Amino acid sequence: MNTLILYSSKHGTTKRYAKEMADQLFPQGHVIQVESINHHQLNQFDTVVLGTPIYAGRPQRDMSAFCQKFHDELLSKRLYLFATGLASGDLASRELQEAYPETLQQHAQEKIFLGGAVDYPSLNLLEKSVVSLMPKDDFHLANLKKVQQLSKFNKQLLKQFTQSITPLIG
Ligand SMILES: Cc1cc2nc3c(=O)[nH]c(=O)nc-3n(C[C@H](O)[C@H](O)[C@H](O)COP(=O)(O)O)c2cc1C
Repeated sequence: MNTLILYSSKHGTTKRYAKEMADQLFPQGHVIQVESINHHQLNQFDTVVLGTPIYAGRPQRDMSAFCQKFHDELLSKRLYLFATGLASGDLASRELQEAYPETLQQHAQEKIFLGGAVDYPSLNLLEKSVVSLMPKDDFHLANLKKVQQLSKFNKQLLKQFTQSITPLIG
């Protein structure tokens, strides 16, 4: 069954998850950045995966706008949701819960919070100060300056999630 993976991404981590997922679903996985999707393309798929990063507790605006605009169409799809971020535990659950509208959450077959990543040196000053203010217990940032790009990228969890879409993946 063909699956459309729609992602939003500022620094590339969520995009990488979306592409890995498409590779795992090959040849049935198709990836498109959420801001470039149109009704015609969306109509070609009956299974849709949405992925957004969390910034300052919120999903990316492009993903929220998409969910609002295509809300009714999404309710007619098999729907899977994921978010990426550095949070863990209760905070991660809360962020995931708030990342998508309640109606879509209830409609979704599965939803998951995947570990995020930051490439600290490449952030701008504002981003660096926001990241520095994150509560260390919740964000695994024991040694902030050493956080490498894709350090929390969680292939194992991603594979489990993809298997829930197509259980036959080896
Ligand atoms: C300025 C800034 C704010 C962030 N705020 C949060 C946050 O509130 N919660 C969280 O879980 N992760 C937060 N993160 C981590 C990002 O969600 C994580 O790095 C994500 O994987 C980035 O995805 P992207 O590369 O696709 O944009 C933040 C990162 C930055 C740089």
